[in-house]
Amino acid sequence: MQILDGLLVSRATKEELKIKVAQLVTEGKKVPHLAAILVGNNGASETYVGAKVKACEEIGFKSTLIRLEAEISEFKLLSIIEDLNNDLDIDGILVQLPLPKHISDEKVINTIHPSKDVDGFHPVNVGKMVQGLDTFIPATPYGIMLMLEHYKIDTKGKHAVVIGRSNIVGRPMSILLSQAANPGNCTVTITHSHTHNLEELCRNADIIVAALGKPEFVKANMVKDGAIVIDVGITRVADSSKKSGFALKGDVDFKEVAPKCSFITPVPGGVGPMTIAALMKNTYKACLDKN
Ligand code: GUN
Repeated sequence: MQILDGLLVSRATKEELKIKVAQLVTEGKKVPHLAAILVGNNGASETYVGAKVKACEEIGFKSTLIRLEAEISEFKLLSIIEDLNNDLDIDGILVQLPLPKHISDEKVINTIHPSKDVDGFHPVNVGKMVQGLDTFIPATPYGIMLMLEHYKIDTKGKHAVVIGRSNIVGRPMSILLSQAANPGNCTVTITHSHTHNLEELCRNADIIVAALGKPEFVKANMVKDGAIVIDVGITRVADSSKKSGFALKGDVDFKEVAPKCSFITPVPGGVGPMTIAALMKNTYKACLDKN
């Protein structure tokens, strides 16, 4: 069993970007600039956005964090996004999800200009991804693909079972794994809360991507020997022994599943850091495509 070390791969990816940014500076060119919008004070979102801003600093990108109160109107949020669309210095815009209930995710995503949509959530970019065209790939599935590539994992012809059909992870993951590319060329089953025989499907999987948000859902009896297991889950579970008062749990019962795997991602330190690295690659691309 080999651990897929997301921290290590993300560090290497960020290091590559750092060198490219230094080159831009040497050439007197503009450095990438990410604008991140955080609405309200959801603890997990604060942590994620904080990590994104920190990664920008490490690499040498500019970043602007826009904090907005939870009560902000949808109209006002959309007008802030429009201003960022029109701001020539801003290359990438991300609005951290989830948003308060009175704000439509769909309207927000559709308002971000596709050329600045570093999350790859805009329908234009999703359409391009489905057709295998050059575009921004949503950061979590993109990060997973980068990790598979880094470890030279041969995915061709393998049966991948993706658990979860969210627009952020499961659905784009299923498309990327099936694309005619390397990594890719998988036969993909996408599963969700209405799937019959999920356990049996998983037992037939060469690759499992667990992205359903239920702590330790994937048990050893659902995994075949030698499977590759990618754990996207990262749920805060109350734990009084921790200073923070919570522990982070993946969607996979790591302790019992890991011994059966050929490769497995840990939580934390697996997919999470790769999501950040992939977002940084998208931000760099947004800047380069513009100039
Ligand atoms: N919330 C959970 N994952 C993501 C992500 O990749 N991007 C944004 N904007 N919000 C998220």
